[in-house]
Formats: sequence, structure tokens, C-alpha cells
Amino acid sequence: MNVPATAKAPVPLKGGWPLLGHTVPFVRDTLGLLERTHDECGMVGTFRLVNKDIALFSGPAAHEAVFRAPDEQLSPNAAYKMMVPVFGKGVVYDCEPARMGEQLGMLRPALQGRRMKFYGDIVAAETRQALEPWGDDGVADLYGFAQQLTNYTSSHCLLGTEFRNEMSAEFAQVYHDLERGIVPVGYIHPYLPIPAFKRRDRARARLGEMVGEIVARRRASGFRGEDFLQTLMESAYADGSRLTDHEIAGMLIAAMFAGHHTSGSTTAWTILELLRDGRFLAEVVEEIDRVFPPGEEVSLDLKTMRELEKTEWAVKEALRLHPPLFILLREAQEDLELAGYRIRKGTWVAVSPWVAHRDSEVFRDATTYDPRRFDETRAEDAQPFAYIAFGGGRHKCLGNAFALLQIKTIVAILLRQYRFELYGDELADDFGSLVIGPKMPCRVRYTRREHGA
Ligand code: HEM
Repeated sequence: MNVPATAKAPVPLKGGWPLLGHTVPFVRDTLGLLERTHDECGMVGTFRLVNKDIALFSGPAAHEAVFRAPDEQLSPNAAYKMMVPVFGKGVVYDCEPARMGEQLGMLRPALQGRRMKFYGDIVAAETRQALEPWGDDGVADLYGFAQQLTNYTSSHCLLGTEFRNEMSAEFAQVYHDLERGIVPVGYIHPYLPIPAFKRRDRARARLGEMVGEIVARRRASGFRGEDFLQTLMESAYADGSRLTDHEIAGMLIAAMFAGHHTSGSTTAWTILELLRDGRFLAEVVEEIDRVFPPGEEVSLDLKTMRELEKTEWAVKEALRLHPPLFILLREAQEDLELAGYRIRKGTWVAVSPWVAHRDSEVFRDATTYDPRRFDETRAEDAQPFAYIAFGGGRHKCLGNAFALLQIKTIVAILLRQYRFELYGDELADDFGSLVIGPKMPCRVRYTRREHGA
């Protein structure tokens, strides 16, 4: 791209060290550094991590420029290359833009309207089963509970009933080894011969075999599931060729990774914030009781999804304050002009939902949990590219409807069955992993409600 001479240089953040740049403050307090870049540098500010320049784009217009740029200019692949050994060679971030677009497009039919009822029933059944050991009262760590539950719900909806019923224990082990293979050194060298990476590679190979077994069995028996696995088995590229078992496994892993902790974190934060705030909780409980009167089982479809409007605001507000993916990255493939700024080839371009959602020019009392900001009279998320918990533009989350269905179902069942109060743990975000969730323990005390069957 010819960069116009009028393009401005991004404002560099002060205080970088020789060689290391801003690496130390980034590691110590990532969000503090991002917020400082926004506050001190404005719309586009840069900082340096060892040998990488990061340009942080802030504000709706800047987000839009990043999210709409073609992959040939701003590529997610280089920035997410540590995921390649996890998803597998030739899968998603290891593909040229056109092939990656085709692969991601194959997930779409599995995320469409009529499938939602099927997933809603699975999520509701899994949630009831997970609550069986709870009894009438007790104490539970909400994030631990939500993570385990969303692992079951996601694997059941994505991988199918065979995985859930027959391979649950082995899948949990394999998935755990894959997750533990995502460590910061992977950003620099994802193939170092370290134990975590060796375990990751063994786990990836085994998961490929497990998917292969199920695919072969389904093909032989003629059984057709309504899960993602079935959708992928029936998908084809534009040239008519089918996905290999390796590619199917890789895309299922990608969908699991995209949706599991993100949904678990949001489920936990929704309840924790409703309890901490107190004011909105009664309205949400009243809404759930109205949509699902005593004696009627909670099970969401497109109609009841719409009716649980305040519950949805509560979830969206938890996502606003605690976006599980707090930084989204692309790598500039050439020198280019973006939102009026000159960006050099090789720079990592970043958008931060965390910083975006704390912008007081966009959100009133930005740090306060206030689900009413989504009410149509305020509609603070109406401005395009202002609310970006699910990203935006060409790589906007494909699973947002599924995620909301899943989280709303779990929240509705929990609040229908139990009355909760905070246990007294400090509530804070834990930035120790790629997907941020509430710091554990984040316990709640629960008591069964009278009609909470
Ligand atoms: C609360 C839950 C979730 C949150 C907060 C979330 C957030 C996001 C965000 C911010 C992106 C954009 C990444 C980027 O621009 O670099 C994204 C992409 C994506 N998400 Fe989600 N996600 C959630 C749940 C899910 C679920 C349940 C699935 C699938 C079952 C899913 C599948 C995807 C996929 C496939 C992409 C990549 C889209 C592309 O690159 O074109 N997500 N998600």
C-alpha cells in the first residue's frame, strides 16, 4: 500500500527501557500499560516488547479501521501462531486468508437458529446434572463450577454425544494437556522441545485419532448428529474436497478453545456482579420466574431467549467489564495507513476490549456494573464498534449467539433453583492466563429456593 505523506506517526509511549522497551511493565501490569497507552497517547499509541512494536488502536473509529482491514494487510495468523500446534497444521491460523475464511465459514451452519433449541436442551440437561450433588445448601466456587460445566456443555454440543458419554475422561486429560501447552514462550517459539510442548503434541495427535474413530463409526452406522462434528463431516471446500479428519479435529479444538473459558468466565462474572451490585438481581430473578413459572423447566429456544431480556443485559454488562479476551491482535503485512496513522510492516496492531469498555466518552460511569445501559432508552452499545466483547468486522465472533444461549441458560437455572450470597472472597480479574476470568476462589453460599426444583 502507498502510505500517504499526510499519515501521522503513532504516538510512542514514554518510559521504555533500552532493548527491553516496555516489557517489564507489560508483564507486571498488562492492563495498566494498555490504559496508560490510551490515556497518554490517544487514538493510536505504540509501545515496545523486546523486538516487537505494538500499536494500540482505541476508540470506535480506530477499532473499525482495524476490524475492517483485509487479512492481506492485517493478519491474525502471525499474531496467533502459538495456536498452530494446538489446532494443527493446515487449520485456521495456519492457512492463507481465503482457505481460513472457507474453514471458518463451515462452522456457520452449526451456529444457526434452528440448532439453538437442540443446544439449549443439552445445556439445560448438563446444568441440572451438574447441580445434582449441590443439595439444598452449601458453598461453591462459582468459576470452578462454571468452567467444568461449560467444558461438558461445549464438548457435548460441539464434539457430540459419543465424546460426552464414552470418552469424557480421556477427552478431559487430552484437552488439559492441550491447554497447558499454551504458555507465553509459545509466542516466540511454539516448537521448543520442552515437556509442555511434547505433551501438547501427543495430546493433539490423540485427539485426532479419537475424532477419526467417531467419524468412521458415524459413517459406517449412518448415524447423524446435530452437533458441530456432523456439520464439519458434511462440509466441503469450494473445490468440492472434504475436510480431512485432522482438519475436523483441529476445527473442533478451535471452537472448544474459543468458547469454553470465555463462556465459563462470563457465567461466573454475571452471577458475581449481580450479587455484588444487588440492585438488578431481583429484576433478573423476577424475569426468569415469569418466563419459566414454577413447574416449568428452564429450556431456552429463540423465543424464550428474547424474553430473557434483562438477563441478557446482565450478561452483556458482565462481558463489558470483564471481557475474557482483553486484547485482540493482528500483524501488519506491509507498510500501511490505518485510521490516518502510518503503521510499519511487522508491527502488531492491537485492540483492547478491556480499554474500550472503560472509555468514559462512550460508557456512562464506565467502571460501574449497570445492566440498564443496554435498555433501549440508553442503548450505550448502539454506536458501531464501541462494544467489542465479541470483536467486530471480518473476524467477529462466530459463536456469540451460542455463547449467549449457553450462559443465559446456566444463569437462569442457577437463579431459578437457588438464592445466592457472596462468601466474602476478594472479587478481581485474574490475568494469569490467556482468557481472563475471576480470581479463584470466588465462592458463593447457596440455599435452595422454595420452588427451585
Ligand atoms: C462469552 C463467550 C465468547 C466471547 C467473549 C468471545 C469473544 C470472541 C472475540 C473477541 C473474537 C474475535 C477475535 C479477534 O478479533 O481476534 C472471537 C472470535 C471467534 N469466536 Fe468467540 N467468543 C465467545 C464464545 C465463542 C463460542 C462459544 C464459539 C464457538 C462455539 C466461538 C467461536 C469463535 C470463532 C470461530 C472466532 C473466530 C472468528 C474469525 O476469526 O473469523 N466463540 N470470539
